[in-house]
Amino acid sequence: MTDVLDQQAFRYSTDAEPHLLCEEVELSDLAHEFGTPLYVYSKRQIIENFQSFNATLKSSGKEHYVSYALKANSNIELLRILAEEGSGADVVSAGELLAALAAGFPPEKITFDGTGKTDPEIELALKANIHAFNVESLEELTVINGIAERLGLRAKVSIRVNPDIDAKSHPYISTGMKENKFGIDMADAREAFIYASKHPALEVVGIHVHIGSQITSLDPFIKAARSTVKFVNSLRVKTGIVLEHLNFGGGQGIHYRNVVRHPLLPKDDLGDEGEYVPSLSEFVGAVLPILDQTGLKIIFEPGRAIVANACALLATVLYTKANSLKKFVITDTGMTELIRPCLYEAYHQVAPLELINGATQKVDIVGPICETSDFLAQSREMPALKRGDAIAVLCAGAYGYTLASNYNLRPRAAEVLVDGAEYRLIRDREHIEDVVGLSKPERASLHELVR
Ligand code: LLP
Repeated sequence: MTDVLDQQAFRYSTDAEPHLLCEEVELSDLAHEFGTPLYVYSKRQIIENFQSFNATLKSSGKEHYVSYALKANSNIELLRILAEEGSGADVVSAGELLAALAAGFPPEKITFDGTGKTDPEIELALKANIHAFNVESLEELTVINGIAERLGLRAKVSIRVNPDIDAKSHPYISTGMKENKFGIDMADAREAFIYASKHPALEVVGIHVHIGSQITSLDPFIKAARSTVKFVNSLRVKTGIVLEHLNFGGGQGIHYRNVVRHPLLPKDDLGDEGEYVPSLSEFVGAVLPILDQTGLKIIFEPGRAIVANACALLATVLYTKANSLKKFVITDTGMTELIRPCLYEAYHQVAPLELINGATQKVDIVGPICETSDFLAQSREMPALKRGDAIAVLCAGAYGYTLASNYNLRPRAAEVLVDGAEYRLIRDREHIEDVVGLSKPERASLHELVR
């Protein structure tokens, strides 16, 4: 979704033997220094993604803003960058709320989403005086009202509507249809607004709609925008309820194919033109004029579009093997570090850190996890790979680390932030002792063993 940068953060050097770089740093140096699996982020790319989204909104001349969805990536150092840039924060748990506050996002720019907010989470968000709860059911509204009354506070609420629109993304990340658990049916939502407007512990400030993620056509967004605007207008006319903002959610798709290019690197299946993803300006140009008809402040909550292409997940080849049907490249990295291919059949480009001239072959790039679903890429044309070679899985910045797990008792990987020619560790690799769940003495003796 982000418009193309003059110089991509991840690119090959121009040498005869090209090396993959993140900004000015060779990724193979990072793989050697920190080991793999390793998430490597480009600070410049994150800032550029945020600024281009924000600038496109600001060019409308209105007070619209971007509220970054922390669920995509909540590393505290990355959050600090976005808070400093002036982003808002969209959180879905007490953990994300605390991280957002610690990173410096102003409470008046924090929204709290999610179908299952717990009572302690609601209490915490009320005390933090956040901008708005995006409320997903009438019952949740009554609970927020009760907690706010008990605390003698006023809860600012925005009602999430479900417009029953197919985002045409993967079914697991489509959220705007009747069969999905999200939001309140347009037909019932007016009742929720009326309830909120009659209870003094609630202040109705907005309306929220989010129809899904990795959406690569404008049509569902346009339909959602039209139906939300229609609802807002009829709410005003029929009930006199006037809102302050319209939160249009996130979901903007990004390019996952041919992100890195080099003559020695086979092009991803669909070639140059194959993957259509509307640009940011196309998206904003299509929906903002519709949303602006309400006269409300418009908020967007992108996650993926801000961080996905700012990260490469580095892996090392452990083994290669072949049978009569397939060739496998087995790496030290898999669904525990990046579950997207397994969970959503998602495509991520894979690029060797060092490119050599030679024949290519079709391989499955898999991880070490004991599941057939543990793959990073299937039937992928790749330069020859051998034990010890390192590869990068691109666009791993959104829903990579945040969906990582300790399955098979694997410690979570380290994260490094690159800034020009400099880099630093922004999260340490977990220690095996931390994930095994032992008592203190047991832990101490294991520590001796793994040292
Ligand atoms: N707002 C709400 C209410 C959301 O539920 C989400 C994502 C976002 C904003 C941010 O959406 P984005 O701009 O990142 O598409 N794990 C999946 C994606 C799950 C999205 C969940 N909600 C994946 O890896 O594709």
